[in-house]
Amino acid sequence: MSIHGENLRKVTTQRLLEMKRRGEKISMLTAYDFTMGTIVDNAGVDIILVGDSASNVMCGNVTTLPITLDQMIFLAKSVVRGAKRAMVVVDMPFGTYQGNSREALASAIRIMKETHGDCLKVEGGEEVLESVKRILSAGIPVMGHLGLMPQSINKFGSYSVRAQEQSEADKLVKDAHLLEEAGCFAIVLEKIPAKLAKQVASELTIPVIGIGAGGDVDGQVLVIHDMLGLTQDFSPRFLRRYANLQEIMNDAISHYVSDVKTGNFPNDKEQY
Ligand code: KIV
Repeated sequence: MSIHGENLRKVTTQRLLEMKRRGEKISMLTAYDFTMGTIVDNAGVDIILVGDSASNVMCGNVTTLPITLDQMIFLAKSVVRGAKRAMVVVDMPFGTYQGNSREALASAIRIMKETHGDCLKVEGGEEVLESVKRILSAGIPVMGHLGLMPQSINKFGSYSVRAQEQSEADKLVKDAHLLEEAGCFAIVLEKIPAKLAKQVASELTIPVIGIGAGGDVDGQVLVIHDMLGLTQDFSPRFLRRYANLQEIMNDAISHYVSDVKTGNFPNDKEQY
C-alpha cells in the first residue's frame, strides 16, 4: 500500500475514534529510528510506537527498565522525522511517571517539546491515574497499557499471560474504565485472554489495541524486530513473523565479507 490523497491525512486521536466506530481495524508497529519510521509510515501503518522495547531490541538490555528519558527522546526525534501520516506515540520510560505526577508532567512535556511526537503511552491503571490526569490536563494525549506490563516484570516475575485469575481480570476491566474516564484516547492490552480483551474492547468507546490479546479488539501492535524476523530468540504464540530478515541480512553480510576477503569487491566499475 502506498500513501497518497486522502490517505496522507495525518492520523489523529479523532480519526482513531472514528475508525473504531466504523469497525476499521487499527494497525500499529514499533520503530526506533528514521529509516524504519519512514518505511513503516510509507507502508501505511496507522500508529508508530517508539516503544521502550527499544531497551531490548536496540540497546540489548534484558528488560525495558534501564532505558532513559534522554535515550527515548533521541530515538523518538528520529522516528518523527520519518513519519508523515502515522501518529507517533512515545513510551514514557520506567521511573519517569510512577509515584510523582509533577515529575510525570515535566517528563511528558520534555518528550513532547523535544521530539514533536503526537502522544505518550504509560503502563498501569489506578496506580498511575494521578500522573495520567496531570499529563492530560496539559493537553497531551495519553495511551494506556494494561495486562502484561514489561516495566513491572520484577513484580510479575515472568512474561506469562496476565489476568487469568478472576481478581486480576476484574482489576484490569476496572483500570480500563478508569483510564477511559480520565481521558485516555486508546489502550494497549498485552498478553491477556482473548475473551477478556474482547469484553474490554466492547465496553470501551476508545480503541483497544492488542498484542497477544486475540482478534476481537480494535487493532493490533507488534514489535517490528520480531515481526520482521530480525530477532529469532523470542517466539511467543501471538507473534507472526512476516519475514526472516536475520537470515537475509546474514547472507548479505557474509557475502560481503567473502567478497572483501577474495578481492571481488570493489570491482573496476565500483571505483573512481
Ligand atoms: O514497548 C513496546 O514495544 C510496547 C509494545 C509491546 C506494545 O509497549
